[in-house]
Amino acid sequence: MSILITGGAGYVGGAVAVHLIEQGETVVVVDNLSRTPDSGLPDGIPFYQADIGDRERITGIVQDHSVDACLHFAGLIAVGESVEQPSLYFEQNVSQTIELLDVLAAHGVDKVVFSSSAAVYGEPEQVPIPEDHPHRPTSPYGSTKSIVEQILTQYDLTEMIRSVSLRYFNAAGAAPGRVERHVPETHLIPLAIDAALALRDPLTVFGTDYGTPDGTAVRDYVHVIDLADAHLRALDYLRSDGTTEVFNLGNGEGYSVMQVIESISRVAEREVPFALGARRPGDPPVLVASADRARRVLGWVPQHPELDAIVSSAWDSRILG
Ligand SMILES: NC(=O)c1ccc[n+]([C@@H]2O[C@H](COP(=O)([O-])OP(=O)(O)OC[C@H]3O[C@@H](n4cnc5c(N)ncnc54)[C@H](O)[C@@H]3O)[C@@H](O)[C@H]2O)c1
Repeated sequence: MSILITGGAGYVGGAVAVHLIEQGETVVVVDNLSRTPDSGLPDGIPFYQADIGDRERITGIVQDHSVDACLHFAGLIAVGESVEQPSLYFEQNVSQTIELLDVLAAHGVDKVVFSSSAAVYGEPEQVPIPEDHPHRPTSPYGSTKSIVEQILTQYDLTEMIRSVSLRYFNAAGAAPGRVERHVPETHLIPLAIDAALALRDPLTVFGTDYGTPDGTAVRDYVHVIDLADAHLRALDYLRSDGTTEVFNLGNGEGYSVMQVIESISRVAEREVPFALGARRPGDPPVLVASADRARRVLGWVPQHPELDAIVSSAWDSRILG
């Protein structure tokens, strides 16, 4: 039996694919390479370039590889782009996911782990944010994650698919051989590292007047290696007949944009050039996870919670290529 990994050429999905192989699992990867230059996966991992909404191709892959579970990472992830092109996000992230789920359900693939996001919460009423906090997404991207979670709940009610939705906060750092690289890149740490290397323009710090200690936005950074561990735990939970559930994945510790810049300067021993800019619409001041449920139910304990350790791995992987 195999695990289908959608979006496995991407940053998080690729790291998880490699981790699962190391743990003795059998995987097959699908990605349309729309947001990743190439799969970059080690030889021996079966890879198909296809849309998740391509019923015929996905059906063939599910049958040929005897797929019995799916880790669903594929999707578009840029919040700003989603505000400019909401229909693109609803088509790629929601409509295509429905096609995928129908193929999975039709072939008895009854376990799904879905990459959801802290973006479902919008501006939080409570920090650290618990899973039962209301969904008030402030972007089409966040809406797509919230809608897919609801769809998955309905698939469970009809007993076709049990699922775990993992709401990542800010994935960061590098797994061996897997650098963070998005197309386009919108994430703070890779942008700041490239600015420090003069490979990009100076970083823009969006918003300096939030009600946070230094006025810049605070986020919870979680190491991609810890995310990979959480995915295997989520899969094992479903294999042990776990019911459909959602879990936050974060360290419960927030760092401001300025603290991240300082961390990169410390680790890289060079300045990060930056300019101060206005707030971006829809950017909450503080997003920090309560991950107590993942600790309690999945036994997930992040092994790399320190910001400097996360930044070091990102820096080293960028320098070493
Ligand atoms: N990186 C983060 O901090 C973060 C935080 C919260 C949630 N997430 C979610 O985790 C998942 C993975 O994020 P990532 O950072 O690895 O992004 P990524 O862009 O590196 O990976 C997503 C991959 O999906 C592929 N893809 C997109 N649409 C597709 C489609 N219709 N069919 C097939 N392939 C498609 C892209 O080519 C890309 O390789 C996403 O669903 C994202 O929303 C990420």
